Amino acid sequence: MNPLPSRLPNVGTTIFTVMSRLANEHGAINLSQGFPDFSPPPLLLERVAHHMASGANQYPPMAGALPLREAIAEKLEACYGAQYDVESEITVTAGATQALFTAITACVRPGDEVIVFAPVYDSYLPSIALQGGTARVINLLPPAFRPDWKEVAAAIGPRTRMIILNTPHNPSGTVWTADDMRQLAALVRDTDIVLLGDEVYEHIVFADSPTGGRHESLASYPELRERSFVVSSFGKTFHITGWKIAYCAAPAALMAEFRKAHQFIVFTVHHPSQLALADFLRADPGFAAGLATFYQAKRDFFRKQLEGSRFDLLPSDGTYFQLARYDRINKMPDGEFARWLTIEKGVAVIPVSAFMPDGSDHGLIRFCFAKHESTLAAAGEKLRAV
Ligand SMILES: Cc1ncc(COP(=O)(O)O)c(C=O)c1O
Repeated sequence: MNPLPSRLPNVGTTIFTVMSRLANEHGAINLSQGFPDFSPPPLLLERVAHHMASGANQYPPMAGALPLREAIAEKLEACYGAQYDVESEITVTAGATQALFTAITACVRPGDEVIVFAPVYDSYLPSIALQGGTARVINLLPPAFRPDWKEVAAAIGPRTRMIILNTPHNPSGTVWTADDMRQLAALVRDTDIVLLGDEVYEHIVFADSPTGGRHESLASYPELRERSFVVSSFGKTFHITGWKIAYCAAPAALMAEFRKAHQFIVFTVHHPSQLALADFLRADPGFAAGLATFYQAKRDFFRKQLEGSRFDLLPSDGTYFQLARYDRINKMPDGEFARWLTIEKGVAVIPVSAFMPDGSDHGLIRFCFAKHESTLAAAGEKLRAV
């Protein structure tokens, strides 16, 4: 048999897996992969055990357990004034990754173009490629990583099927403003372009950001909402990245196409966890609202740890990531620097060029500060000595 021709010839193991593995091998403090090293709320854990013991162990409905879809609809209305129909406009997914993949699969055909912004989350390009689409990559530049709307306008053409946006943005922490949303609306008006909003960090926008802590969701703008898939992840909000539960909200016509793909990609998602999340959303509606303050304290604590170091910190307006320049330490390419820092200095980070399809290297690394203060302090001690 001839070797199977790869459908994703340029894809290797993700940088997150590579750096976490390296951190383990060398006993480094892992500030690379984006996951918390603290526990989810105890009530949430208790509710999963409860629903398992109470018999919620068979398939839930394809679109997701009804109580969870109801809780999501209430949340979308409370946060963004957006009304989504529980029956036809909300689907629970196996992580945001599956929601993004499914939305792309439902919309993108061979020959279609999809506009993405780089640094770009690593799943977008392979998902587009598997559907035969072509990514039109717009590079966002440090330190601000803001979209240049003239460049976006120039990238739009007759083949543009979709624009994918990620706000708050991993890895830069940049948040889109109301003006960005207005610019986007003006560009897609009178087109058939579909929007895919990766809003997994929706609850982590800091009070000192340009929006004053407000998350600008596609769901907030009726003109944008009518052409948008809006994706969020419970993994990021409730410190449960390992549960892989998220959701997608979209107008009924888009959601109908989404579900045609969803039912054969995953069909449905872990039942007891869905019911537990529904209970928790009802029992503690303030948890998500407190998340930005919680992470802002961690960001400030971590930034303080790096005072007096030779790292230069960029702004972090949202997410749980902090970018830094290291050119006062050495001039290595960022991938090499990240490996060196992990192996020789004991702190694992992600090189930002890993998010750049053209490999462009601005000498930046990403730290994840979703960690206990003790972890951040231990990392700080090592980093100040570099
Ligand atoms: C921007 C972005 N989108 C999507 C995801 C994937 O989320 P999930 O773990 O729910 O699949 C992540 C996770 O790190 C992310 O940072």
